[in-house]
Amino acid sequence: MDMPQNVRYRAYSDWTSQEIQEINNNVKKSPWHATYHIEPKTGLLNDPNGFSFFNGKYTLFYQNWPFGAAHGLKQWVHTESEDLVHFTETAVRLLPDHAHDSHGAYSGSAYEIDGKLFLFYTGNVRDENWVRDPLQIGAWMDKEGKIEKFENVLIQQPNDVTEHFRDPQIFEYKGQFFAIVGAQSLDKKGFIKLYKAVENNVENWEFVGDLKFGGTGSEYMIECPNLVFVDDKPVLLYSPQGLDKSELDYDNIYPNTYKICQTFDTKNAELIGASEILNLDYGFEAYATQGFNAPDGRTLIVSWIGLPDVDYPTDKYDYQGAMSLVKELTIKDGKLYQYPVETITSLRDSEENFSEKSTTSNTYELEVTFPANDKSELLLFADDKGNGLRLTVDTKEGIVTLDRSKAGVQYATDFGTSRHCSIDKDETTANIFVDKSIVEIFINKGEKVFTSRVFPEEGQNGIQIVSGKPSGKYFELKY
Ligand code: FRU
Repeated sequence: MDMPQNVRYRAYSDWTSQEIQEINNNVKKSPWHATYHIEPKTGLLNDPNGFSFFNGKYTLFYQNWPFGAAHGLKQWVHTESEDLVHFTETAVRLLPDHAHDSHGAYSGSAYEIDGKLFLFYTGNVRDENWVRDPLQIGAWMDKEGKIEKFENVLIQQPNDVTEHFRDPQIFEYKGQFFAIVGAQSLDKKGFIKLYKAVENNVENWEFVGDLKFGGTGSEYMIECPNLVFVDDKPVLLYSPQGLDKSELDYDNIYPNTYKICQTFDTKNAELIGASEILNLDYGFEAYATQGFNAPDGRTLIVSWIGLPDVDYPTDKYDYQGAMSLVKELTIKDGKLYQYPVETITSLRDSEENFSEKSTTSNTYELEVTFPANDKSELLLFADDKGNGLRLTVDTKEGIVTLDRSKAGVQYATDFGTSRHCSIDKDETTANIFVDKSIVEIFINKGEKVFTSRVFPEEGQNGIQIVSGKPSGKYFELKY
């Protein structure tokens, strides 16, 4: 939502309790609140930050401007979870309250070291002429959630990047801490810088090199790069902006992409054997995905269900954005799969055979099989006038299509109203998680994923089978 700069950058302490109360009241009026997804209490939620395992629990922060549905003075909001399904928001915040993050505590990562959580993030600093100085800075968080920021800047803006230099991700590789940072070169190309912690001291970083990963494309900026390891294979997740459509078929304003690589040569800052660039998600919104290698060996990721520079129907209620389910990454037959963590089944409250339903709670999971040589069409968020979110699984042609043009309140239609991906011409499954205004579709247990918002109007909560012979289960989900 458009909002004047002086409102977006107003000091947190200047907002009166009455203004905050009004925002709170307005948020409550929305008919679209999710039940088992993280949403901001107020204001805008964007990137997942600091996703990690700390003090025996999972930690997940989110980027937030708390005073409305706009990108303003950002903070990190803390949540924690034991099962990666139920998250509790605590009172802990990484506030923009230091000279090194005066215009926003921007995105970053976290890692538990010696009983404390190291937070590595971008301090967005602007001078009186609004010229930006992006600083990579750090803090320690203790078990009580007390945050102590470092006085020293960890990485200053190098002289070969523009003001677009942000989103440090710390990771450990063979016992050594590394970090990658998204950057824009002086000739406006997106790239990634690799650093390492000198003597493994995370308060001291040195530059290793510009990360080589099989060639960057036409993007002008890479946001939120993440390097994770799946069965020892490096997987680079990133959000390139301005990528030419000839290099990758995508429709969203910016895609969220990945490359699977074979090995990581730390000396030469090179990911060797990188695949072509691929879409991480085929839905209408998934961005800034963050991942980490959990101590139990799983590779976990979570995505922002939202996109930069897009207005949403919830904006009038002073909030925007949600967090995806936590997904586990695996590689099968050389292909990357993403699927919600096993504990997600704990939300299943009741089970019945999949069939048409004139009304639902819009909080359910479908586990559906689409036979080979068939074309099935389902309507979710359906009403009795034939409106709804249309999912077409065509196993004859090998294509899945999601059409939002008749689903709820329309928005972002400039970017098209349908999305598609290819599948094998064979029996196909879909696990579909619906949560009031969110839908996450996992084709063939996560071989392809569609993450999207839908903002249903009154009475748009049915399921219709328009054609084909899908069969399976319907699970009512309860948080
Ligand atoms: C991505 C992003 C990051 C930045 C953050 C600011 O959505 O633009 O690059 O750190 O959001 O909120």
